[in-house]
Amino acid sequence: MEDLTKRILRLEEASSVLEPTASTREAWMEEVLTYAHRFIDRMENEKAFIEEYQTDNAFEEIDFKEKISMEEALQFLDQHVDSIGLNPASGGHIGYIPGGGIYPTAMGDFLAAITNRYAGIFFGGPGAVRLENSLIRWLCQLIGFPQNAHGNLCSGGSIANLIAITTARDKKGITSKKVDQSVIYVTDQTHHCVQKAIRIAGLNESILRYVPMDDRFKMDIEVLESLLKEDKEKGLIPFLIVGSAGTTDTGSIDPLDKMADLARIYNCWFHVDAAYGGFFVMIDELKDRFKGMERADSVAIDPHKGLFLSYGLGVILIKDKKAMYDTHFYKASYMQDAQERFDEISPADVSPELTKHYRGLRLWLSLRLFGLDPFKKCLEEKYALALYFEKEVQKIGFETGGEPELSVVLYRYKNTTDKNKFNKLLTEEIHKDGRVFLSSTTLNGEEWMRAAILSFRTHKRTIDLCLDMLADCVLRVKKRL
Ligand SMILES: Cc1ncc(COP(=O)(O)O)c(C=O)c1O
Repeated sequence: MEDLTKRILRLEEASSVLEPTASTREAWMEEVLTYAHRFIDRMENEKAFIEEYQTDNAFEEIDFKEKISMEEALQFLDQHVDSIGLNPASGGHIGYIPGGGIYPTAMGDFLAAITNRYAGIFFGGPGAVRLENSLIRWLCQLIGFPQNAHGNLCSGGSIANLIAITTARDKKGITSKKVDQSVIYVTDQTHHCVQKAIRIAGLNESILRYVPMDDRFKMDIEVLESLLKEDKEKGLIPFLIVGSAGTTDTGSIDPLDKMADLARIYNCWFHVDAAYGGFFVMIDELKDRFKGMERADSVAIDPHKGLFLSYGLGVILIKDKKAMYDTHFYKASYMQDAQERFDEISPADVSPELTKHYRGLRLWLSLRLFGLDPFKKCLEEKYALALYFEKEVQKIGFETGGEPELSVVLYRYKNTTDKNKFNKLLTEEIHKDGRVFLSSTTLNGEEWMRAAILSFRTHKRTIDLCLDMLADCVLRVKKRL
């Protein structure tokens, strides 16, 4: 039998490649950087979307027992991942809600991964938790929440909304016995992740009222008021009103201030999903449109949308930090040392996660390296581009859903007898073309296209390219018909 010490040393030797030498690290880094920089530098002249529906067996054929070089790994990524489908990093991504990915996100993530600070519990990572909590306090200030509000940096808007809804459920005492009498008020334009969150939170049997909207897709406040009144009179429990500060489809902002009034009167939790639109509150010209957001109980706001970070950072802000804590805090004997220190609230105590990505660093580094002003200017540019697109697109035969409230423009080709059919075909042509990526939607049974302008890489030249592409695609559809 092999001696235990010998065995340990043999295994150490065999697994020592897991700690590459400085020269290997440097060589890998150089290759990765070359790849990354080439990706960024070429992007402007490449398509934003390459349609790809074929099966790719390359992933099934991989044998993870075999190792490959960094060069081969990067070649694989280039061929099978990074050059097909949508390029969310491209300024030509003007569909859905664009991503972006400012460079310091990568630097922050790199450092977070190397240092692997434990950002879940203050005891283990006091600096990392302080850093993340300072961002939360800054965001609270930005949206007009008091300094004693709290929040959590999570993976995106869906989880941010989920944290708010579970907290609201508990704070309002919606136990299983009350679920089927409890009422939640949304609109048809509320993001579907809210409905997902409602189900995950065990509220699927709640009564979900889709409050009608006005012609700009904003919640009709008078109908909301009468529904709340009727529900109360019926002995039901109105407990949650969800407003949107920038809907995904149209960029509309609900009448937040009036919703806040009603939430107060009817003792409801008022949640605002500002995942897409929230950061536009920094623009002086647009600030007033968000009036009432500061009166919400909770606000979801996504830096991986409105601050142009790469995917992976959403934020939930909640005024009643005790409620947040009550919903998420747990004790465990193996955590007893950690729980002795309490200088700062630990993310693990106010979210479903324990061990988590140290995701605050990417935002902190971005803000520290650039300062806030370029972010504001870039958002203002996106708003101005939306105004420009809305005007210009009408000159090439399109009608629009009106002046954009934020940076989403609704439009469709109008000079045709069957608008729905024509615009459906137009979307197909746009996707085949791919110079710019645009997405469509259905509103009141009608086919519309959306230009969602939010990438930091989208500029006037991108919008002009988009207009040229639309004009070309219209001609192609006409040929098909
Ligand atoms: C208004 C709104 N809320 C929530 C979400 C969901 O966010 P995520 O995709 O980051 O989970 C989105 C996504 O686009 C959104 O636009």
